[in-house]
Amino acid sequence: MTKIKNICCIGAGYVGGPTMAVIAQKAPGIKVTVVDINEKRIAAWNDADLSKLPVYEPGLDAVVGEARGRNLFFSTQVDEAIAEADMIFISVNTPTKTYGVGKGMAADLKWIELCARQIARVSTNDKIVVEKSTLPVRTAEALKSILENTGNGVKFQILSNPEFLAEGTAVEDLHAPDRVLIGGDPDTEEGKAAIQALVDVYAHWVPKANILTTNVWSSELSKLTANAFLAQRVSSINALSELCEKTGADVNEVAKAIGQDSRIGPKFLKASVGFGGSCFQKDILNLVYIAQSFGLKEVADYWEQVIIMNDHQKRRFAENIVRTLYNTVSGKKIAMLGWAFKKDTNDTRESAAIYVADYLLNERAEVVIYDPKVSEEQILADLDYLGTRSEEENRQLISVVNTAYVATEEAHAVAIMTEWDEFISLDWDRIYEAMLKPAFLFDGRRLLDKEQLKSKGFEFYAIGS
Ligand code: NAI
Repeated sequence: MTKIKNICCIGAGYVGGPTMAVIAQKAPGIKVTVVDINEKRIAAWNDADLSKLPVYEPGLDAVVGEARGRNLFFSTQVDEAIAEADMIFISVNTPTKTYGVGKGMAADLKWIELCARQIARVSTNDKIVVEKSTLPVRTAEALKSILENTGNGVKFQILSNPEFLAEGTAVEDLHAPDRVLIGGDPDTEEGKAAIQALVDVYAHWVPKANILTTNVWSSELSKLTANAFLAQRVSSINALSELCEKTGADVNEVAKAIGQDSRIGPKFLKASVGFGGSCFQKDILNLVYIAQSFGLKEVADYWEQVIIMNDHQKRRFAENIVRTLYNTVSGKKIAMLGWAFKKDTNDTRESAAIYVADYLLNERAEVVIYDPKVSEEQILADLDYLGTRSEEENRQLISVVNTAYVATEEAHAVAIMTEWDEFISLDWDRIYEAMLKPAFLFDGRRLLDKEQLKSKGFEFYAIGS
């Protein structure tokens, strides 16, 4: 029986960091080393001040505080950590390809392949390699081929163990997962032993009934499709939000009425300015690409519509701001509250706010941004990455401030982009007083009480009613 004593995780990002911190917390007998080539990130994980961790997640500071230095380590010594480990998690980024065949759709597996080659080069004893990153179905086949052909005669077992945590609730999700999914080779003794070794790691705190084992391909495909199903619900309710606006129906009431049906369920039916985050768009595009590459045009078109709807929702929110402000926002101050793609995370990847800001900047608005957890440096980097205008222009047109009150002072309009709790309890009377009139308020998250805000004097617009 294989008993895991030493784990290495390659990639100390939003998944690798929290996941390994919880494994180390719950399994104190296992040494867990998280490695990354990004020195700044590793230094932040090792910062004595736990408020400086590179990933903001409620409760993560306590978990890291408990395990770090005991059996949890963060390091840039990738080779050493690989060599020592009996189980290696690959948790590196798998973004959408920006070049070549599959550009804009396929997952870029460059970093995965580099990891595989590095593992093959460094390993001198048998290892279990675990795909933690979200990968196209059948990636394990490629990994196996690289590991076996460039290795030192060492035997590798490859498992797929996709991560289902949601940013913003990562610690909660890791402590009590709906399920842990482990895909492996059930047809060989070595395969079965590898699956069992990983089951035993999770069994330190996850009930056996919540640990599912499947073949590798089912596991790889389940992660991509779970994200596609979740995003599809968001696009479905967002599609209805536009219809509600035209008909006098209220999308919250419709969502409640739909969600009360036990076959549908209430979760993920909240209309918004559109989904963001590093995963939904990338994973659906990847699914579309995979379907296309098997010649499954209808399957590909079906899932692509989820993305098309999401792009439409972001654009129409921005268009509505311009139209409502008498068809011009040139030189007008628009305060954007929130930049993260959702509350309780500092992750901004694919955030709707980036695209709405970009649209408003094209219309020559003066955009002022406040987010409780996102730095000015990150906001500028997100806009620069789009490449719509020069870095100098971005810096001229936007400013990032430290409070919602400063952001909204003398603003023509306020747009709520992220559902941070603190925006609900702002002193909206004070904000109204300090804004130019009419004071326009666009709620992209249906966070605020429409009647209450209208009674204060705001011209109030919410998605979906
Ligand atoms: P991330 O970009 O935050 O972290 C990836 C890290 O890997 C980076 O710090 C990078 O420097 C490091 N890295 C890349 N190549 C390396 C190498 N050769 N050696 C050492 N370090 C290397 O990405 P994130 O968000 O943690 O995602 C990782 C994977 O997990 C992706 O496949 C993603 O789809 C998946 N995933 C992400 C979720 C999320 O909510 N962010 C949830 C579930 C899965």
